[in-house]
This record gives sequence, C-alpha cells and structure tokens, in this order.
Amino acid sequence: MLICLYFSIHRYELHVIMDEIYMLSVYDDTTFTSVLSLDCLPDPERTHFMWGFSKDFGMSGIRVGVLYTRNHEIRKAVNQLAVFHSCPGPVQHVLSQFLRDRDWLDNVFFPTNKKRLKEAQNILVDGLADVGIPVLRSSGGLYVWADFRKFLKSQTFEAELELWQKLLDKKLLISPGKAFYCCEPGWFRLVFSNSADTIYLCIQRLEQMLHSYAAEPVTNNTTSTADALCNPEKDSSGKPSSTRGKDVSQLKNILVY
Ligand SMILES: Cc1ncc(COP(=O)(O)O)c(C=O)c1O
Repeated sequence: MLICLYFSIHRYELHVIMDEIYMLSVYDDTTFTSVLSLDCLPDPERTHFMWGFSKDFGMSGIRVGVLYTRNHEIRKAVNQLAVFHSCPGPVQHVLSQFLRDRDWLDNVFFPTNKKRLKEAQNILVDGLADVGIPVLRSSGGLYVWADFRKFLKSQTFEAELELWQKLLDKKLLISPGKAFYCCEPGWFRLVFSNSADTIYLCIQRLEQMLHSYAAEPVTNNTTSTADALCNPEKDSSGKPSSTRGKDVSQLKNILVY
C-alpha cells in the first residue's frame, strides 16, 4: 500500500482515496491493514479515507458513510455539500449506540458476521463448482467473481447482457462484469451475504436456467436495450448518440445492484 501511495502521490501528485468499505468483513487468516494505521504517510494532505455502514453492518439502506481527510480545503468543500445531505440526529444516535458497544462488537457481532460470511461463501462456491462455474474466492467482502464464459452464446458483452437478462427473467439478480468495467465478457459478481436456504435456491435456479439456456439455439437478435447499453456511443437505431452521458448512467442504473 505504501508503494502505491508513494508512486501515485510523489510521481503524479495524485490524491488517493482509500475506500475501506469492507474493512471489518475480512475473514480467513487475512489481516487487514487500514491506511489510517500507517505511521508515516507520504502525503497526509493527499490521502483520504472512506468507510460506510452499508457492508460491515449490513445497513446499506441507512445511507451513512464516513470521509476522513486532513485536507482542510476538501473538508470545507464537502461540508458545504453535506448541508444538503446531513445524517438525521436519531440515526446518528442509534449508530453511535452500536459503535459504543465495543465489547458486543468485538466478541459477538463481528466474529458471528465473519463466520456467517465465510460459510455463505463456501456454500456458494461449492454449489457453483457443481454447476461447473469457476470462482475467484475472496477473503473479505460480500461477493465473489464467477466465470460464466462457457455459457455465453458468443464471447461478447452483448452475449453477457443477454445471459444477465435471462437470469433476471428467472428471478436471479447478479451483476455483469461490464457494469464494473471488466475488460473480458462473461464474468459476473455474485453477492452471498444471505441465508443458506436462499443460496441453495439460487444455485438450483441457476442450474435449471443454464441447462435450458444451453439448449437454446444461438440467435443474432440481442435486444435493442442490450445494444444501447453495450455500445454507449450509439443509440438503439445504431446511429451515434448525442447523449453519451445519459447512456452511461442508464447502464449504471440498470446493471449495478
Ligand atoms: C467497494 C465499494 N465501495 C463503496 C460502495 C458503496 O456502498 P454504499 O453506497 O451502499 O454505502 C460499494 C457498494 O457496492 C462498494 O462495493
């Protein structure tokens, strides 16, 4: 991490934002090192830290996060924006109660959460292996990357989106790599922070869906939505679009869950 900080800050004078949103959801024997624990930062004024309650506390709906920076100018600018996005007092009160109970957090909540996440990941990875889907395991966080390339009708992002749509039709909501700027079609992000029963049900549906999808003939008629999303510089008629920004935000709205 220090090498990365030295390189980006000294070589290019960049600001570095460390997004440590999964910092308390690290399991196996991996030790997580936060940027805040480093004694000598190359440039504290250009190093910023972010965290939120969404992942580590399973509270994505509460919409509360933290930005820590020693940079006065950035604090000033963010404070001005925060006037319109302040965290309600009652919400702050409840969250501060959570954080104050260190004993419960350290001895009950985090160990239980990590154990459940690891078990859930194992169930998903084993289930996917039975269906013939290789997975990149992770030692933290709430999701894994799975390789669906062999199920694509062609090795293109259009085919990736078509598969995503077919999965959605069967009520399986996973995220295609394209939504995260993955450079190779066929990768999907699967969130496993759910009950064992739900994960088993998903694997069962996935197996059935992939089986029938494999039997379908290859067609060239990918949907116009797929075309528009996969070729953001063209509209659905194939002409160059004058609203590139709109297309890209449409991609985010539709694909990232
Ligand atoms: C790495 C990372 N950072 C930040 C976020 C944003 O979290 P939220 O907006 O739910 O607080 C996400 C959500 O998926 C994430 O994966």
